[in-house]
Amino acid sequence: MLNRFLNITHTVSSPFAPALLAVVLAGLLPNLAQAAEEPTVLVTGSNRGIGLELARQYAERGWNVIATARKPEVADDLKAIQAKHPKLVIVQLDVTDHQRIDELAAEYQGKPIDILINNAGISGGHEKSKFGEMDLDVYPQVHAVNVVGPTKMAEAFIDSVAISDQKKIINITSGQGSIGRTWGCCSIYRSSKAALNMMMRNISIDLKKQGITVGLVSPGFVRTGFTPGLDLPMMITAEESARGVIAVIDEYDIEDTGTFVGHDGKEWPW
Ligand SMILES: NC(=O)c1ccc[n+]([C@@H]2O[C@H](COP(=O)([O-])OP(=O)(O)OC[C@H]3O[C@@H](n4cnc5c(N)ncnc54)[C@H](OP(=O)(O)O)[C@@H]3O)[C@@H](O)[C@H]2O)c1
Repeated sequence: MLNRFLNITHTVSSPFAPALLAVVLAGLLPNLAQAAEEPTVLVTGSNRGIGLELARQYAERGWNVIATARKPEVADDLKAIQAKHPKLVIVQLDVTDHQRIDELAAEYQGKPIDILINNAGISGGHEKSKFGEMDLDVYPQVHAVNVVGPTKMAEAFIDSVAISDQKKIINITSGQGSIGRTWGCCSIYRSSKAALNMMMRNISIDLKKQGITVGLVSPGFVRTGFTPGLDLPMMITAEESARGVIAVIDEYDIEDTGTFVGHDGKEWPW
């Protein structure tokens, strides 16, 4: 719609242009008013890292952002974004707390959420994942955050997503969840993301008939608290990652549902 509007204003050059433009604008006004209703995005784990950047960039677009954090009281970076963009709301959420997820979903019942982004994730500590020395006690926690949390979020918020315009559930997965491209290491984390991929691929089939798009996006190799002390040439910033992820989400539609792509839009092998 916006592109069509720009094309019209650029090509009108006759003396009748102002009148013509007024007529065109009158026809567009209802749509422009609708455009003022900005979309809504919910991002889990948005107090730092990639989630923080996703929240920031959507807020800069003027969207309504529901930014969740386990501890809002210490989410200072998020509060700084909110100070500039008051349409961002900060809400407390631990994705392993299913009762809290249900409470929050009930608060948003009847309100559209265009994009639910399941971003919160943990590695469990790669040193606990070495074969022969695995600390299998961390596995349930990694699974609870990386697989069960996103699944519970999708189920709880499905009605709000279903009544939105964009109808997207996007999961921040990882290239490390690709079975086809694995090269060892990090077994606990990798298998949790592979499980997330299967869960969401499956759910995408269930939801396709409702026109709901389910996406799996790998954010790249990003310098965040997730990769402490690592600074390798192929790594990108959270800002770059979020920019790529948002561009991918913009293009993601029902025809792509259930696919596994990178922040560069390239498909990953399962
Ligand atoms: N960084 C990378 O290279 C990379 C690569 C591939 C995929 N990813 C994925 O990208 C996503 C974001 O990672 P990141 O790099 O931004 O990591 P990060 O800097 O460690 O941030 C992780 C976020 O998840 C939140 N979180 C952890 N456990 C949670 C829980 N139980 N409930 C709610 N929130 C929780 C954290 O909140 P607290 O501050 O409260 O801990 C934090 O906001 C993750 O899913 C990760 O697997 C990252």
